[in-house]
Amino acid sequence: LVIKAEIAYEINRLKREKNAVILGHNYMEPALFYSIPDHVGDSLGLARIAAETDAERIVFCGVRFMAETAKILNPERMVLLPARVAGCSLAESITAEDVKKLKEKYPGVPVVTYINTYADVKAETDVCCTSSNAADIVRKLDSDSVICLPDEFLAKNIARETGKNVIYPGSERTGNDDMVIWDGRCEVHDKFTVEDIENARRQFPDTVVVAHPECPPEVVQAADYSGSTTAMTRFVRESDAERFLILTECAMGDNIAAENPEKEMLRMCSIRCPHMNEITLQDTLVSLREDKYQIEVPEDIRLRAKRSLDRMLELS
Ligand code: 13P
Ligand code: SF4
Repeated sequence: LVIKAEIAYEINRLKREKNAVILGHNYMEPALFYSIPDHVGDSLGLARIAAETDAERIVFCGVRFMAETAKILNPERMVLLPARVAGCSLAESITAEDVKKLKEKYPGVPVVTYINTYADVKAETDVCCTSSNAADIVRKLDSDSVICLPDEFLAKNIARETGKNVIYPGSERTGNDDMVIWDGRCEVHDKFTVEDIENARRQFPDTVVVAHPECPPEVVQAADYSGSTTAMTRFVRESDAERFLILTECAMGDNIAAENPEKEMLRMCSIRCPHMNEITLQDTLVSLREDKYQIEVPEDIRLRAKRSLDRMLELS
């Protein structure tokens, strides 16, 4: 603990010296989350801050697609990701070629892509979305048919919320022809089941269940509340309930528990995002000291990806 405090002290000194801003996603472990970020939040909140900062450097304590989004929105800044590899199973599930093929198959159908994708995929997209604005953006599109990529579960959750219909690309038709989804999954949220909810409620009937929209649709439906990481944090803070089951990755459960000591958080401590887990205090210090790992996006791709992000920011 003493060593972590010393590292955090040095990071905070260095970030002033090097005119850096540190952005921390809600999934950072508590020792990092509560010590070095200038701003913490969900992917939408951090993207907005990244777009507006005039700091020379943005150090992104999150995963690669988040740092890349910061670079797309604010190319003049040096954007640093403290780990060489901090991926995301959703971002890795789809390529720009996949999107092009879908557009050929469904000409004229708008493509809504989750922010958890890489720049070349965003470049093929009409509008991006995040967990906090996805349903709203799909509702606002002037089309009954929507291609919604790459998270199968998020897309199904949006479909239920918006009343839009669903087809799976290349697979059987469900009879609902107006929304196309891809079969990417978040390897973390994929693990939660309705049984987890039933077990908690059997033991503690007053449990309020909070689930991220990347969870399977039956889990989201069985939960009491679903929202982005920041929305879930706010929900717990503002609720009068005393006991919660937090169905998202476990470091965030720790952060919410620390912020609400009078409330009980039930959580599954084994379900940690291995990619977020790559970001440590030690590596963040090295990142700031040595200006690594710098995120770059080819300018032609950046400009096209920025259009889909700008459209999202306008619509949300
Ligand atoms: P949020 O936008 O809700 O923070 O989600 C990002 C993410 O990767 C969740 O797994
Ligand atoms: Fe990607 Fe899931 Fe990790 Fe979020 S929790 S970064 S969606 S793998």
